[in-house]
Amino acid sequence: MKLPRVLSGFRQKKRPMFTPRDRENIRWFWANYLKEKSPWLLVVLVLIMLQGLVYQQFLRLTEDGLRVIFDNGSVADLIQVCAIVFGLFAFRGGVSYIVPRLSVTLASDAVLKMRRDLIDHLMTLDLAFFERTNSGEIILRLVNQAQDLSQFVGQATVNAVRDAATVVIISGYLIYKSPLLFLTAVIVLPFIIWMMQAVSDKIKEIQATAENAMGAYMTGIEEMSNGMRTVKISGQEPNERARLLKATREIKSLSIRLQSAQALVMPSIDLVSAFVYVLVIGGGGYMALSPEFDMDGAAIIAFLIGMALVFDPARLLAQFFAKMQAALVILDGVRSLFRQEASIVDAPDALDHFDTAGDILLDDVTFSYSPDAPLFNKLNMTLPGGKTTAIVGATGSGKTTILSLLTRLYNVEDGQITVGGTPINQLKITTLRHSFSVVAQDIVIFNNSIWENIRYVRPEATEDEIWAAAEAAEIADLIRARGDAPLGPKGSQLSGGQKQRIAIARAFLRSAPILLLDEATSALDQTTEDKVKRALARLSAGKTTIVVAHRLSAITNADWIYVLDAGRVVEQGTHADLMAQAGLYAGMYGAQKQSYD
Ligand SMILES: Nc1ncnc2c1ncn2[C@@H]1O[C@H](COP(=O)(O)OP(=O)(O)O)[C@@H](O)[C@H]1O
Ligand SMILES: [Mg+2]
Repeated sequence: MKLPRVLSGFRQKKRPMFTPRDRENIRWFWANYLKEKSPWLLVVLVLIMLQGLVYQQFLRLTEDGLRVIFDNGSVADLIQVCAIVFGLFAFRGGVSYIVPRLSVTLASDAVLKMRRDLIDHLMTLDLAFFERTNSGEIILRLVNQAQDLSQFVGQATVNAVRDAATVVIISGYLIYKSPLLFLTAVIVLPFIIWMMQAVSDKIKEIQATAENAMGAYMTGIEEMSNGMRTVKISGQEPNERARLLKATREIKSLSIRLQSAQALVMPSIDLVSAFVYVLVIGGGGYMALSPEFDMDGAAIIAFLIGMALVFDPARLLAQFFAKMQAALVILDGVRSLFRQEASIVDAPDALDHFDTAGDILLDDVTFSYSPDAPLFNKLNMTLPGGKTTAIVGATGSGKTTILSLLTRLYNVEDGQITVGGTPINQLKITTLRHSFSVVAQDIVIFNNSIWENIRYVRPEATEDEIWAAAEAAEIADLIRARGDAPLGPKGSQLSGGQKQRIAIARAFLRSAPILLLDEATSALDQTTEDKVKRALARLSAGKTTIVVAHRLSAITNADWIYVLDAGRVVEQGTHADLMAQAGLYAGMYGAQKQSYD
């Protein structure tokens, strides 16, 4: 016979309900987000204990009340018992209102703090992390998982503690009343434990898959909405639709599987409780009838009510353990972000001063994005201070990477880069990066006005400075025309040339001592390019400038030119030197000139 999927886990080797990693995660969560609230947690705990005691008192009073009835006692006593019972439950009701309010506040605080820490931590992570991590995964951790954890801690856990307290207190009372009868009842306990362990593994596995599916779904949505232009032009709407539907279906089927695994818990407990009732009624009845035992009808009925009082919280507790397995997976998901370590960090005694006008030296620099694709092997370059150096070469030859290494977006693996004699990894990262104005090859535009986009690189700039930068980059007219209208997600309402001019305006505004231009004017038309180039020449006057260009006409007047091929410098010199060498550069130049003529 084929077992249903959720059951097949029974045959596997059991892993513990809490793996060492789970335990470590819980300790971490406790130490960072709950421990500081321990006085409040203690208040919650005391209130919860009182709730449990209410049940115990209720049982005692019920037994007394029944006895009053059975033994024909006074009506006044009976009324008193009823009044106390009512009072007890009114108290329990009051506490039931306070505890969730208190605990939800505590849990939301904890999660707020955790989200803040997550955001802080994200800001420190290397660029490389963001280049290999899907945005959907990050959103999942920061939005859904943080929320799920808050709910779990604030509601599920507090209820579980209340239920556990009730179970312990009532059980204690029942044991005190009749150890033998209680023992009869807990004979089924091992079965419940076995059952819980069998299910917990399965739940964890499904939850982990479900989290991955959810992350993939979010990434899919993000890619689809950002890439809609490509989707539409290449007529791939049906494929995108299919991709997203597939992801949603997978999430649906996983959530059903999760529910059915968790749902197994309840009926098993119900079945078990039927056994227990039969045992207690049978055993208790026998005890009441037999003169050997000191139990009367009232005691047996009270005991049975006690069992009923225990079973409900016990059922909920079992369900809680099932949910907890899912929460542990989520906790590990959040924790995995914290486990990511930043490698580009300030040295312990990092300097915050250096000669920004000095020469930039690449000294035997070795670097690769991945071990199986080495890019630079002992690369040497001198980029003289105050001069303009050009780096040219085919796409993929490593030009952009050199600029990324200068600004320490990645660390070199071997060798070093120095500016004015100071190795850049001994500088504070903010100090280093403050000394660069960059026009990057891939320009990031935020969904805000052009004005705000320019201001982004120097928020404290004055209005006049921003206008001056915009004029120099030939984007001022567009600002006047568009006003404050936002530019659409990722600047989707702008042309490539307009985005590029915003990037150039940013470089003007930033006006740092070292200027990095990566294909900075490649998307501009000839007339605009000429104007912008003249402005850039004014900006770069006296500054260390590094120009990366594919179009060689853009760099002919550079002070020095490096020709890069597959991560190696193959030629260098001035334009005239290189033309005279009649090598790669001269060939490229000739070919390009021909295509322009
Ligand atoms: N973030 C990255 N992760 C992995 N590989 C990269 C990354 N950026 C660039 N590369 C690879 O490194 C090589 C050099 O890229 P790049 O410096 O951008 O070249 P260029 O700017 O000269 O066109 C290319 O082979 C490219 O595929
Ligand atoms: Mg490039």
